[in-house]
Amino acid sequence: MANQLPSSVLVVGAGGREHALVRSLANSPAKPRLLCAPGNAGIAAEVPCFPVAADDLAGLVALAQQEKVEFVVVGPEVPLSLGLADRLIAAGIPVYGPKAAGARLEASKIFTKEILLKYNIPTAPAAFFEEANAAIAYVRSRPAPIVVKADGLAAGKGVIVAADHAEAEAAVHSLLALSGNPHFALRNPLSKILIEDCLFGEETSILVVVSGRDYVILPTSQDHKRIGDGDTGPNTGGMGAYSPAEVVTPGLLARIDHEIVRPSVHAIAAEGLDYCGTLFIGLMLTPDGPSVIEYNARFGDPETQVVLPRLQTDLLVLLWAAAQRQLAGFKLEVKPDYALCVVVAAKGYPESHPKGDTIVFPPPSSLPPSTFIYHAGTARNAAGQLTANGGRVLGVTSLAPTLREAAHRAYAACDRIQWTNKYYRRDIGAKQLNRSG
Ligand code: AMP
Ligand code: GLY
Repeated sequence: MANQLPSSVLVVGAGGREHALVRSLANSPAKPRLLCAPGNAGIAAEVPCFPVAADDLAGLVALAQQEKVEFVVVGPEVPLSLGLADRLIAAGIPVYGPKAAGARLEASKIFTKEILLKYNIPTAPAAFFEEANAAIAYVRSRPAPIVVKADGLAAGKGVIVAADHAEAEAAVHSLLALSGNPHFALRNPLSKILIEDCLFGEETSILVVVSGRDYVILPTSQDHKRIGDGDTGPNTGGMGAYSPAEVVTPGLLARIDHEIVRPSVHAIAAEGLDYCGTLFIGLMLTPDGPSVIEYNARFGDPETQVVLPRLQTDLLVLLWAAAQRQLAGFKLEVKPDYALCVVVAAKGYPESHPKGDTIVFPPPSSLPPSTFIYHAGTARNAAGQLTANGGRVLGVTSLAPTLREAAHRAYAACDRIQWTNKYYRRDIGAKQLNRSG
């Protein structure tokens, strides 16, 4: 059968998400040879890492050929939106991750909004603008709060949830000015903004493995986007997550599948996007039902760090089945355990933060059971010591029979990490824990 598993896999990326992908793939009974580019200090301790940047498409294709890689799993959105999957497919190398046409679902919020509206998939009403006066007239016609978004990839800086009209107007000016910034414009040639009504409710992340018209919904999870406890302060890439998200009851999940996931996958296929990869659906659970905030064309970070450890199913089998277009009827097996991940960031993140501080882990024997430290922004200095090399530096995930125990374990591990400028939220999982009493 053509479905023999690949014997070597290259994971592209350098974050906690990629460390979790590498760990889960390493657990495959097929024992593939694993490689990563560019990776980080934690990944490098487990598999060979190659210093090829995630957006160096030619370099990555050459690496895959040189190393005779049989399968590539792409973590981040930038290489996908630049066309890494297209190039790998052209070179005859199977890949998990959508082609550039599919990655536009993340790279252009306007493209996505047009699809959502065309196929009647629930989402906030919105309008698009290239020019400030018309945008401001629209802002004034809508009730506050109101959400102003840049169309293109903006590394988390492109969305402003404005509390009042003055803030929304300032956001219009700042995002249009940002669009004129050459770095930003590079990835956002249309320089448009989108203004949409504010949705109210709880957010949840639905990760779906998609292969054409077939799909598998992964376990539910919830991220914590704000920097501060109690969901305060600026938005970040994500400060922690847990799975399952019990706010998504089995009945609600069936509704989400029926109203959102299936129509989304079918719309994407009908648009001819030939999608193979993760479709990450950011949802607001409003009193009127689930509503799409965004699509991402990749696994979430830190959602991946709680979803993958819960899979009983071999991740390699799942991703390979998707890439081989053999996902129909796939049965996912999930562990009953809860997973919780605390992101350990450098003090000052998401603004400026120090780099180069040394980090010392507790000895493995003193870590709580079923606890994994995933590396994100880590490196090694000339003396070989582990150092902080980014904003989000580590993700500590624990599995346990209850969410409370998973939180207890993850925080016990975080507390034992020695690093002067470490910062983490103290309330990851609190919403669900408070609900369950
Ligand atoms: P996005 O990059 O589109 O995911 O937006 C980043 C964050 O902004 C989301 O995770 C939400 O917390 C918030 N957000 C985006 N759109 C809306 C909306 N229409 N209503 C309320 N919050 C939103
Ligand atoms: N955790 C949100 C994201 O990956 O975009």
